[in-house]
Amino acid sequence: MFLLRKPILALSGNTAVRDALTSTSLTASVVDRFIAGETTADAVAAVSRLRPDGLQVSLDHLGEDTTDRATADATVEAYLQLIEALAAAGQVAGAELSVKLSAVGQALIASPDLPAGGNAYALAGARRITDAAYAAGARVNLDMEDHTTVDQTLEVLFELRRAHPDVGVAIQAMLLRTPKDLAELTGPGSRVRLVKGAYHEPAEVAYTDPAQIDLAYVRAMKLLMHGKGYPMIASHDPRLVAIADRLAADAGRSPDRWEHQMLYGIRPDEQRRLVAAGKQVRVYVPYGSDWYGYFTRRLAERPANLLFFLRSLTSK
Ligand code: FDA
Repeated sequence: MFLLRKPILALSGNTAVRDALTSTSLTASVVDRFIAGETTADAVAAVSRLRPDGLQVSLDHLGEDTTDRATADATVEAYLQLIEALAAAGQVAGAELSVKLSAVGQALIASPDLPAGGNAYALAGARRITDAAYAAGARVNLDMEDHTTVDQTLEVLFELRRAHPDVGVAIQAMLLRTPKDLAELTGPGSRVRLVKGAYHEPAEVAYTDPAQIDLAYVRAMKLLMHGKGYPMIASHDPRLVAIADRLAADAGRSPDRWEHQMLYGIRPDEQRRLVAAGKQVRVYVPYGSDWYGYFTRRLAERPANLLFFLRSLTSK
């Protein structure tokens, strides 16, 4: 399956395939498995279903690689609307919002009327979301995208942390630079979501062998568990989930000082098993109509996801 990862991830940027898939309803039931719905109300409804089971949430308004300001602004507005809707439903406290900076303008090209460039635009948008989230009792975590964006994303993170020191960030174990980045990210209160990494990266900057990525993940977990921050172990991998528990115990961390994270629709029984075992678990809940990039990354991760998808195509 790992051989298929590269071509499937390449499809995530293919607009012809995206248009063909998203213009038909055939994918709807498949997409539903991984995505909470298209609207703010769908997202809030998903939160209301997950929370009674003891699960925490991190909400992602789907979208990425935005190349125009109107779309970036609309994404910011969507998050502000979500915060209000969560508050109205009594679900905002303790919720987290996951933000992709490329959705709020990071990829915009500098121009005479945008002299500071896309990262400054993304910072301004992320700041509006973050200020509103913290004012309402929620938190924000920055997703991490491909390796070319890491420096800019960390720059935005440190700016946001001036006002809200526990804004979190996703860090990808597969990147060779990660141990160096973690050295700056394990201070008191620093929330770090450790992931394997979902993008196709070249061997110059990343481990490409799954076994090496797993080893790098374990090394990064050790740094986080022994650090002073708040580790968020985002993986469905049963071995890594078990190792996280052992490392937390070795580091003397009680269950309230770190958490597991998993994606909506992936290993839901395991999410509930961990809660029953006294662990904190946060579910990443994506919603919105721009689901294509997110969806193809999930297909690339696991043969069963791909088979499930192909079967649904042939049964139509
Ligand atoms: P992986 O997909 O390698 O699977 C390992 C094993 O887990 C499988 O062999 C199987 O045993 C088990 N497993 C996996 N899926 C299963 C299923 N459906 N049913 C049963 N068993 C299953 N990436 C990124 O680059 N930037 C980001 O910001 C984020 N954010 C993020 C948030 C959260 C909460 C999560 C969980 C993940 C991300 N990711 C991410 C994605 C991440 O980088 C990675 O691509 C996926 O989590 C897949 O890697 P896993 O560690 O889950 O294991």
